[in-house]
Amino acid sequence: MRIVTSVSAMQRLALQWKRRGTPIGFVPTMGYLHEGHLSLVRKARQHVGKRGVVVVSIYVNPAQFAPTEDLANYPRDLPRDKKLCRDAGVDVLFVPGDKQMYSGTGVSPVSLHPSTYVVEENLSRGMEGESRPAHFRGVTTIVAKLFHLVQPDVAVFGAKDFQQAAVVKRLVRDLNFPVKIVVAPTVRETDGLALSSRNKYLSAAEREQAMVLWQSIQLARQAVRASREAIPASRLKSELKWLIETRPAARVDYIEFLDPETLLPVARVKRGTHLALAVFVGKTRLIDNGRL
Ligand code: PAJ
Repeated sequence: MRIVTSVSAMQRLALQWKRRGTPIGFVPTMGYLHEGHLSLVRKARQHVGKRGVVVVSIYVNPAQFAPTEDLANYPRDLPRDKKLCRDAGVDVLFVPGDKQMYSGTGVSPVSLHPSTYVVEENLSRGMEGESRPAHFRGVTTIVAKLFHLVQPDVAVFGAKDFQQAAVVKRLVRDLNFPVKIVVAPTVRETDGLALSSRNKYLSAAEREQAMVLWQSIQLARQAVRASREAIPASRLKSELKWLIETRPAARVDYIEFLDPETLLPVARVKRGTHLALAVFVGKTRLIDNGRL
């Protein structure tokens, strides 16, 4: 496995592969890798085959964190990530530093925020976009940058970040990036908790209570399947909020029932409606989603 830390070296490699017709699969991450990330790596390999190359990037992108969020404390373990990538058959691990990504772009010598942004203005409005303003413009900008550097034919994203995947698909469509976006299913712990680098922040008691996100999805699914008619979203929302907040460490940030295509909220919940939720468990904000 080759480790690339410079932007120009990454670009040169990508252009070489392109000239030779080598298919490029790409998994962008912020590191502290877990089985969810590795499932995306395997998916990328399936798409490009043995002849192709799989690139994983690790970059904790400052532009997608608000000043009050966990940028400085975001978990990092590069030696472990390297080993996991090597074992998973990754060809190139791209780990650019802030200076590589942002030198010369800002007013100060190294501004961690670009002065040119790529902004998706429709699907990124609600949910994560509402709770974390400026988050998605940070994501779309870095993803556009990474796509330019890696030139992937296929890029794999996780269904765990359902809104992010939808926003990236829209970015690719609107700006004609020649890349296929593949969305891979959420990998979960045995009790249903979605794997996330942020789970590391949870105390033992919080970890126990964190399974309430998955329980909420299950409960909503059962309710929809048991009911002959569509259920008013407001009613199901209050039931889920009640269920979640019986856990002493849990506080709902949002619960949304939405149309899976438009991501717009629906008034009545039925089979096929999407449920997305964000819950603070202690100080840690967890998200999950599922089709009902
Ligand atoms: P990060 O949170 O590291 O996630 C990288 C990719 O892994 C995302 O596509 C995410 O949806 C996927 N992923 C995370 N947990 C997963 C799970 N339990 N099962 C399946 N896939 C999972 O998302 C980001 O980084 C960043 O926003 C990024 C796209 C890299 C841009 O900075």
